[in-house]
Amino acid sequence: STTRIAVLIGSLRADSLNRKLALALAGLAPQDVHFEHLRIDDLPLYNQDHEGNPPESVKRLKAGIAAAQGVLFVTPEYNRSIPGVLKNAIDHASRPYGQSAWAGKPAGVIGISGGAIGTALAQQHLRNILSYLDMPTLGQPEAFIQSKEGLLDDQGRIGVDATRQFLQGWVDRYLAWVRKHAQA
Ligand code: FNR
Repeated sequence: STTRIAVLIGSLRADSLNRKLALALAGLAPQDVHFEHLRIDDLPLYNQDHEGNPPESVKRLKAGIAAAQGVLFVTPEYNRSIPGVLKNAIDHASRPYGQSAWAGKPAGVIGISGGAIGTALAQQHLRNILSYLDMPTLGQPEAFIQSKEGLLDDQGRIGVDATRQFLQGWVDRYLAWVRKHAQA
């Protein structure tokens, strides 16, 4: 049977490295695993006044999460935390109180940036949020990918053998984690 993974990318940039990384990860998974990128660029800024009457974009996001067995966060680091656009999406899908789409969904956290410890601090902040949201989150292996010329292309190809092998191992462990913790 098909395993569905909801993918949230913390960058809206057309040429995003994290979008390329998400594509590369999908390419390392078996055929029966489907990675669905959930849009977050058309969500309004979260406002609790409008919680009782959510727009289509919010309903779509929550439905996309509900339909998935696992969630994958692929995010850059902005000022040593996660980008506001990603936090906005997380907040939207966590509400109304008691109706969070996130609860119980197994999660993976990964990211790429130019810095040597790039995304490590963002990932740690994100883990704090996911812990509160009751998402079992893969602890090991951690993956802090440093960008360099030729590492990732638009087609999801990985230009460095050692990185491809490392990411293959990461995807294998992540999918095993999803299978272990998936609720439906
Ligand atoms: C950054 N960048 C960055 N990098 C990092 O390793 N740690 C950081 O704290 C930050 N902070 C930061 C803040 C803001 C507002 C921007 C725009 C950028 C650099 C960032 O890693 C780089 O732009 C990546 O290419 C962003 O990821 P995408 O868009 O390529 O996926």
